[in-house]
Amino acid sequence: MERVFIFDTTMRDGEQSPGASMNIAEKLHLAGQMEKLGVDAIEAGFPSASEGSFHSVSQIAQKVRNAHVVAISRVRKEEIDCAWSAVKAAARPRLHIFIATSDIHLDHKLKMSRDKVIDAVVTSVRYATSLSGHVEFSAEDASRSDRDFLCRVFEAAIDAGAEIVNIPDTVGYAVPDEFFELVSYVRSHTPNIHRAVLSVHCHDDLGLATANTIAGLRAGARQAEVTVNGIGERAGNASLEEVVMSLHVRADRLNLATGINKPEIYPTSRLVATLTGIVVQPNKAVVGANAFAHQSGIHQDGILKNTTTYQIMEPETIGLSRNRLLLGKHSGRHALKKKVEELGHNLSEAELDHLFKKFKELADKRREILDEDIEVLVAEEIFRVPDVFQLDYLNVVSGTVAVPTATVKLKVRGREFQNAGFGVGPIDAAFNTIAKMVGTRSSLVRFSIQSATGGTDAQGEVTVRLQEEGLTALGKGADPDIITASAKAYIDGLNRMEHLKKNLIPRGKERTWSGPVEI
Ligand code: KIV
Ligand code: ZN
Repeated sequence: MERVFIFDTTMRDGEQSPGASMNIAEKLHLAGQMEKLGVDAIEAGFPSASEGSFHSVSQIAQKVRNAHVVAISRVRKEEIDCAWSAVKAAARPRLHIFIATSDIHLDHKLKMSRDKVIDAVVTSVRYATSLSGHVEFSAEDASRSDRDFLCRVFEAAIDAGAEIVNIPDTVGYAVPDEFFELVSYVRSHTPNIHRAVLSVHCHDDLGLATANTIAGLRAGARQAEVTVNGIGERAGNASLEEVVMSLHVRADRLNLATGINKPEIYPTSRLVATLTGIVVQPNKAVVGANAFAHQSGIHQDGILKNTTTYQIMEPETIGLSRNRLLLGKHSGRHALKKKVEELGHNLSEAELDHLFKKFKELADKRREILDEDIEVLVAEEIFRVPDVFQLDYLNVVSGTVAVPTATVKLKVRGREFQNAGFGVGPIDAAFNTIAKMVGTRSSLVRFSIQSATGGTDAQGEVTVRLQEEGLTALGKGADPDIITASAKAYIDGLNRMEHLKKNLIPRGKERTWSGPVEI
C-alpha cells in the first residue's frame, strides 16, 4: 500500500471557524495530542496575522518533536520572515506559502496579472527555500483556476524549491470526478511534478470535502490537508477522521495507508470539541454520538448476531470503548486517570491531583459523572490560561414576588470589583450586571441551556454566542446551578472574545478591553 501524509490544519484553517478560538495553553495541549495521533504535519497558524498567532506557533514549534510544524504566509518577504522566526525552532519546520491563481481572485482581489503572480511565486518560494529546507506552496482557489496556468505556477514553484505543491478547493466548488480530473491533469501537465509531493485541501461548502479529498488521492495526490471534526472556514474542511477511516475501511479498493494511530481518533475529536466549544453533530460520520448507535429492532437483532451486518468498522478501532468507564462518588484517582486518557488528555501528576479534588467536589453533588462533566472540568481547571474576567461570587434573588436581582463579584486581572443589577429574570439580572461591570460591546446572539441527564441534580450546560464587530465567540459553562452555569458561560464567552480580538485583529489594530466600569 502507498503511504498518504496527513497534514492537520485544525489550529490554522480549523481555528478560522466562526467562534472557534483556542488559547496558547489549549493549542499546546492539542499539539501534544496531535503527536499521539501520529499526524505527519501540524499547521500551527499564520504568524504574521497577530501577536497571539506568532507566539502560539513559536511555542508549538518548540514543543513538537516528530511531526513537521508548519507556519503559513502570503508571498510577502516580511510575512515569510515572520513565519520563519516563529517556526524555525521546530525539529522539522516547514514554511507554507500561498497565493491565489484563479482569474476571479487575480482580477477582483489581487489585481495582478498572471505573469506577476508567477514572479511573486518564484521570488517568495526561492526566498523561503533559502531559510527552510521544507517549503510547501499552495495555489489558492486552484479548482477554479485555468488548468494550464495552474500547471505553470506549480512548475515555477517546484523549480524555485517547493517540495510540496497543494491544490486547494478553497470555496468547496468541485465535484469528485472533476477534482479527480484536475489532480490527474496537474500530474500529467506539470513537467517537474515528480520532484514534489502533490497535496489536496478541500472545503465542505457542498458537503463534498471528504469525497473530493479521496478523489484527489486516487488521482495521485499523497498529502491530504484535513481538520479534526471537519471544522474550518465557513462549512469547514475535509475531516481527518473521515479521510483516515475511508482509506482504512476501503483499503481493499484504494490501496492507500496513513500513519495515523487510529485509537487516538475519538479522544482527539473529543478534545477538539472541548477546546473549541464547537460540538460534534450527533450524526457526524465516524465520531458522532450516533455513529455506532443502532435503533431499529431489525438492526439491533443483526448487530447482536454479528456486528458486520450493520457496522463497517468497530468503535474500538477509533478508540471508542464499548465498556465505557462510568464514574461516581466512589471512583478513585486511577479510574479518573483512565477516563481522562480516554477523552484525549495526558495530564501531569500535579494536574491530575488538582482535577481529582475538583472531581470529588462535583461527585459529592451528583450521583453520576458523565464524560461531558469531565471534559468541562478539564477545560475549566487545567487548560484555561488566567482569564481577563473571573467570577468570584454570584448571588441572585428571584421568585414570584421579588424583582430579580444579581450581586456579582468579578476578578479582573487580579483586582476585585462588585456590582448589583436587575433583570426580567435571574439570568437576565446576572448578565446585565456582568455586562455593566465589564463595559462590554459584545451582543448576546444565542443562549441555550440543556441538562446533561434527566434528573433534577443534572449539570446545567449553557452555551452562549457573542458577537462584536464581525467576531463571534462561543462561551460554555456547566454547573448544577443553572444561573451559575449561565454566568460562567457568559464570562467564558467574554474571555474568548478578548482572546479573539487579540489574535484575529492585525497587529497594531487590536481593540482590547478598556477597563472595568468603576463603581
Ligand atoms: O482554502 C485554502 O485555499 C487555504 C489555503 C491558504 C491553503 O486554506
Ligand atoms: Zn482552506
